[in-house]
Amino acid sequence: MKIARFSRVGFILAAAGSAVGLGNIWKFPYITGENGGGAFVLVYLVTVLMVGFSIMIAEMLIGYLGRRDGVGSFEAIAPRNKDLWKYAGFMGLAGLFIMVFYSVVIGWIFHYIVVTFTGLPSSVSEAETLFNTMLKEDISTQLFYHTVAFLLITSIVTRGIKGGIERLNLFLMPILFLIVGGMFLYALTLDGFSQAWAFMFEPDWSKLDSDSFVTAVGHAFFTLSLGMGAILTYSASLPKNSDLVKSALIVVALDTGIALVSGLMLFTFLFQYGAEPSAGPGLVFISLPAVFYEMGALGNFFALMFFIALAFAGLTSAVSLVEPMVQYLIDRFNMSRFKASLSMGLFFYLFGIVALLSNTTEFSEALTFGSKNFFDWVDFLTASIMLPLGGLIMAIFVGHVMEKERLESVLRPHFGPFFDLWYFSLRYIAPIALFVVMLNLIGVLEL
Ligand code: TRP
Repeated sequence: MKIARFSRVGFILAAAGSAVGLGNIWKFPYITGENGGGAFVLVYLVTVLMVGFSIMIAEMLIGYLGRRDGVGSFEAIAPRNKDLWKYAGFMGLAGLFIMVFYSVVIGWIFHYIVVTFTGLPSSVSEAETLFNTMLKEDISTQLFYHTVAFLLITSIVTRGIKGGIERLNLFLMPILFLIVGGMFLYALTLDGFSQAWAFMFEPDWSKLDSDSFVTAVGHAFFTLSLGMGAILTYSASLPKNSDLVKSALIVVALDTGIALVSGLMLFTFLFQYGAEPSAGPGLVFISLPAVFYEMGALGNFFALMFFIALAFAGLTSAVSLVEPMVQYLIDRFNMSRFKASLSMGLFFYLFGIVALLSNTTEFSEALTFGSKNFFDWVDFLTASIMLPLGGLIMAIFVGHVMEKERLESVLRPHFGPFFDLWYFSLRYIAPIALFVVMLNLIGVLEL
């Protein structure tokens, strides 16, 4: 079978594009805010290194050696029980589920790009009204932008790895780095910066509980795009003789760098203008627009740049969430790329509409099941259950099922003596961390 190959830079940018997403700019700052700042950041960084990085290499390796979609790759490289292991490849479905709410949120961002032209809200309460009206009442606006997101994402995936995904990332990622970097440099000049620094890097352990640990592991997975075969699928298109260790290091560094830099930048702006750091999911849609308004003309420009960067981050991640199942349909059933992209696109588009409606006053009751509405359920089931489970499966597969010699022959030349450290953390530390997370979840579910 023929799979188009990325260029080396193309792969790094595409993998970084997948990793750097709404998770970094939208989710990381607000969960840091909710979990008290510094201590949480520290736990998160340790998790990224000990668990995220090891699994990133494992996931890359499966695709790199398997050279096909997730299902095909597991099947090809499993030393035994191939028929069973191939089902692990269906973790790619989690990507489509994530897309169900991801596409809706990208839609909100498009709407906010327009809002920066029509006028930012002049106070936090006005910003709150603006956001809540969109979320709870304005079905047509959300539907319109969700449709735009669906069309854009699907048409890029239709153009394939080279012409679609690689080109998109080569173009959007450098712009994203420039915008976030530029705004960060400005934040450095403000007094609020030292407060933001203290908030993010001075740990207050009293704010940390076991839930924070679970959130940190879950987020480490989400932000690095692990546990569902996105990185796996991209790695199937790596050029021959690639250095997986170096690629993984760069991707993890870029992803973590962007999260920290955007966190510092956002908190600087928030502290400078006296807004709340723990504002929850509405942080970038409520507190931030009000802060940008306070900043005057420059703020308006920043708001535009910020939402453009956020949209770019979202789009480059979205294509990686859809691609695994598209690749599966193409590989397995010889489906045309167009048909595969469109059918997977329609899946997240239609369920996305349900997710969007579940936030509205009109339909929320019908679409709330137990403690959460449909939108929140999808978020919870994917980020807290499917991704850690996918990661656990990959850690066990590469760490305990695959032949060690095979891993060594690919990785030892690049890892040197650190190979053993990686192998140990993949075999023991990562699975135990993931297992604890899942145990904790069962506890949460029983409550
Ligand atoms: N990493 C992205 C973010 O931080 C989201 C994402 C893209 C993702 N592809 C993924 C998450 C694959 C898990 C698995 O927003």
